[in-house]
Formats: sequence, structure tokens, C-alpha cells
Amino acid sequence: MSHADEHEGTRRDFLYYATAGAGTVATGAAVWPLVNQMNPSADVLAMSSIRVDISGVEPGTQLTVKWRGKPVFIRRRTEDEISAARAVDLADLPDDKSRNANGDASASAADENRAMDESGEWLVMMGVCTHLGCVPIGDGSGDFGGWFCPCHGSHYDTSGRIRKGPAPENLPVPTAQFDGEDTLILG
Ligand code: FES
Repeated sequence: MSHADEHEGTRRDFLYYATAGAGTVATGAAVWPLVNQMNPSADVLAMSSIRVDISGVEPGTQLTVKWRGKPVFIRRRTEDEISAARAVDLADLPDDKSRNANGDASASAADENRAMDESGEWLVMMGVCTHLGCVPIGDGSGDFGGWFCPCHGSHYDTSGRIRKGPAPENLPVPTAQFDGEDTLILG
């Protein structure tokens, strides 16, 4: 890595804004290179916290940004998506844990324990299938209107919880918090 590259990497580490569009991963199944997860380069590791501009995210759309070498889905849900997620009988969930890094690890997988805000409008999750690491397709995909991983057919609901297929766990919610209305901090 040249000195110039290092400098660029360092600068980016401290202030990394992703705008709608710029950080969007193309729709479609993509196998996220495993090497990224197992042997992240120094600049990826250093990018421990990023700020994401979410002001352009409309209800019913998703922004995908790269964080620590992996995609993160930031979805602004519609009322229908929220009510569908909250109407689910928890007994129907293969994984009954919230998988939310911001909450109690033993909390149930109720949508209220996974959404970023009380209204449930914002849902933030790692975009990595818990089966073997593909990037699930969003925009209401799959049998449960959430995300679908075509690699081996895992269906996630509008709360990102696994409902059908080989994936063992709900899509995890990473450490995240709002900074005002327009910025989400990951990490
Ligand atoms: S990697 Fe997603 S179903 Fe296998």
C-alpha cells in the first residue's frame, strides 16, 4: 500500500459519509468475499465507526453501506412492514433471540427488540445471511416480504428474522445509534 493510499484510508476512517446511492450494493445475490471477513485489511479494521447520512432514505427503501468490510442494511420501513413484523406470533420464529447488539442479549425476537426506534420505522441489520454469508436480496423479497437469500433459499421477514430455509439465526443488528434525525452512527 502506498503512502498516499494509507493517507486516504486514514482520512476515510474518521469521517465516512455514505449517501443514498453511493453506498448502495446492486440488487442481486452476491457472495461477499469470505476473505474480507477473515482477513480484513488494516484500513477496514480501523474503520470501527462510521457516520451515515440517512436523510435521503424514503419509507419503503433501503440504503446499503459497507462497514467493517460487510454490508449493512438500513431500511426505513413502511407502516405495513412494521405491522406485519409486529403481528407475528413469536412461537413461529425459528430463532427466538433478538440478535440486537444494542439490547439485552437474552431479549426475545419481538420486532420491538430489533427496530432502532419505538415506532419501528428504522431497521438496521448486517446484510449477511446467517447460513453461509451471502448478501440477501431486499425490497420485500421472499415468502415473508422481507429479504431472500437465493444461495440456498433462506427467507427473512420484514424484521429480518429467519422464517424459512437453512439460515439458523435472525440477521444481526449491529451497534448503532442516531445522531440527530439525519445521521446514523454504526459502531
Ligand atoms: S448463504 Fe444464505 S441461504 Fe445459504
